[in-house]
Amino acid sequence: SAAEKGGHDHFMLKEIAEQPKAVADTLLGRIDASGRLTLDEVRIPAEVLREADKIVIVACGTAFHAGLIAKYAIEHWTRIPCEVELASEFRYRDPILGARTLVVAISQSGETMDTLMALRHAREQGAKVLAVCNTNGSTIPRESDAVLYTHAGPEIAVASTKAFLTQLVACYLLALYLGQVRGTKWGDEVRAVVRELARIGEEVERVLETMEPVRTLARSLADKDTILFLGRHVGHPVALEGALKLKELAYMHAEGFAAGELKHGPIALVEEDLPVVVVVPSPKGRSVLHDKIVSNIQEIRARGARTIVIAEEGDETVVPFADHLVRIPATPTLLQPLVATVPLQVFACELATARGNEVDQPRNLAKSVTVE
Ligand code: G6P
Repeated sequence: SAAEKGGHDHFMLKEIAEQPKAVADTLLGRIDASGRLTLDEVRIPAEVLREADKIVIVACGTAFHAGLIAKYAIEHWTRIPCEVELASEFRYRDPILGARTLVVAISQSGETMDTLMALRHAREQGAKVLAVCNTNGSTIPRESDAVLYTHAGPEIAVASTKAFLTQLVACYLLALYLGQVRGTKWGDEVRAVVRELARIGEEVERVLETMEPVRTLARSLADKDTILFLGRHVGHPVALEGALKLKELAYMHAEGFAAGELKHGPIALVEEDLPVVVVVPSPKGRSVLHDKIVSNIQEIRARGARTIVIAEEGDETVVPFADHLVRIPATPTLLQPLVATVPLQVFACELATARGNEVDQPRNLAKSVTVE
């Protein structure tokens, strides 16, 4: 009913709007006033966390994309090698696991069979498993050694939105916590990130307030066959997620690429008027990446692409090459996915509506896939 949807036309719109709160709730009580993290629920002894020599993240769908982003944060802040693998592939290749492997299983529902089978396999091999999950008492946390709950609240729409943002928050917390337990050389940076994380909900809110042009743009692309997404660094998984949302909701051909791979193949797809969404990293700090992406935008535009550029406020270098410019607030590089994903969710939702699709219940998909 309309009341259940909080006045929104679809659960998905309600859930997109709830993201600032979902993010804040997931942070609640986990960072104290001095910036220290307390993750008491992570009932894995500090000893085990200190001795872990490898982290393996397993997940499916949107949760897998959260895992891809988590890898950047975990490796950067903890220097522990981190692999991310599709849960459905994991156990079939005889992965190398042991008592010093920490496996992180990310799942909104806690019932995804592929993820459950992966974690069972990991535990059989002696690894410790930490679940990042949104559903209290579901199977995946019950079968794990510990759980870090996301507090997104119930997610009804099949396409995941607020759960994804809270999975990111939980993974950042986990990465920072591991850094705290093991000692990190990034003290100042970590303090700045923790401060920023504590107020990131407000930034997500600001993004939500500026989405009208994104909706208009989406409607204007309703008759397109293909949309491409490009990103680098943490922007690459964001591009993958943007493309997944479009497949799920708009039933369009959509692909996400690492922008650096463009020249190794995907650029052959670029033709007159092809929409290409580009997620631009912050111009600060990692300026090399930024400059490379700006030249990618120029390259595809010279070949006729219609460029839809998602860039930080104040980044003026992209302006001459953007047919459509979507602004997001400046954040530390690793946190950018929390704000950069939101316009892509709105974009896919609006395109689905414009194409007459059922937003909350896309064809052929299930909210939780409990078969392998
Ligand atoms: C299904 C859903 C996706 C979700 C994936 C993993 O395919 O349609 O939206 O990302 O399962 O679900 P989980 O509950 O494990 O996060």
